Amino acid sequence: MQIIAVANGKGGVGKTTTAANLGVNFAKRGYYTMLLDTDPLACLEDWWDERKANDLQLMSIALSQLDEAIPKLREAGVEYLIIDTPGFISNAVTGLLCQADLVLIISKASPLDLRATQKSLKFIEEVKTPLVFVLNEVRKGTRIANEAIMALSQHGRVAPIIHYKNDFVVSMIDGRTLEETADADNPGIAEVDALADYVLRQAGEKTLKVIDRSPVKQATAEVIAISGRRGNKT
Ligand SMILES: Nc1ncnc2c1ncn2[C@@H]1O[C@H](COP(=O)(O)OP(=O)(O)OP(=O)(O)O)[C@@H](O)[C@H]1O
Ligand SMILES: [Mg+2]
Repeated sequence: MQIIAVANGKGGVGKTTTAANLGVNFAKRGYYTMLLDTDPLACLEDWWDERKANDLQLMSIALSQLDEAIPKLREAGVEYLIIDTPGFISNAVTGLLCQADLVLIISKASPLDLRATQKSLKFIEEVKTPLVFVLNEVRKGTRIANEAIMALSQHGRVAPIIHYKNDFVVSMIDGRTLEETADADNPGIAEVDALADYVLRQAGEKTLKVIDRSPVKQATAEVIAISGRRGNKT
């Protein structure tokens, strides 16, 4: 089991959104995935409570119970534990990051966010867990994203970016994510796929399971329906 923590001492950068979108994406690929919300505001848990599909699990435990829970999750065959953390760094959060195999540091590409990310990094780097930066809510056609990538890459690897898209916001109303609600050609779907590919590779996956997004099944069903109608006429 790989433990992936999503962190940044700055609030509102997209930690919960990233945890949910990656969790759904991993589960849809067929990885046994578990979520854990360690934010006292429990936004990930609230989102998951609304979710109808039972492909993605979430466990509700106190942080003090995590040590005891990890071997049980391994035994149960959980492949990925994705942990959402609050928008502040505390001893409890750094303790948690020590137990992770990979930390995703989510940041927006703005001076305020990048400065806060650098401050968070001082605490997170002490932990020594491998880390990857994820730039989220990037506005298309802005120069600052490239500058942010250059600044962050001096501290670690930078994952494929996620752009600003209102579909990320509205998709979460009823416990779903962008890939479950948006049209098939929505660029956000490919962005989440690319981020998930990258994170899975960083987590040591050699051969990635992928989601079959081909419209073939639907097309076949349409052909059958048409030929069925023809058949009835003759
Ligand atoms: N790529 C995106 N495009 C547009 N809106 C986004 C994107 N990512 C996140 N948001 C929105 O930004 C807001 C903050 O996101 P989110 O709650 O995931 O951040 P957070 O880091 O978990 O915040 P907190 O630290 O308060 O827990 C939410 O309203 C969310 O819907
Ligand atoms: Mg959050």
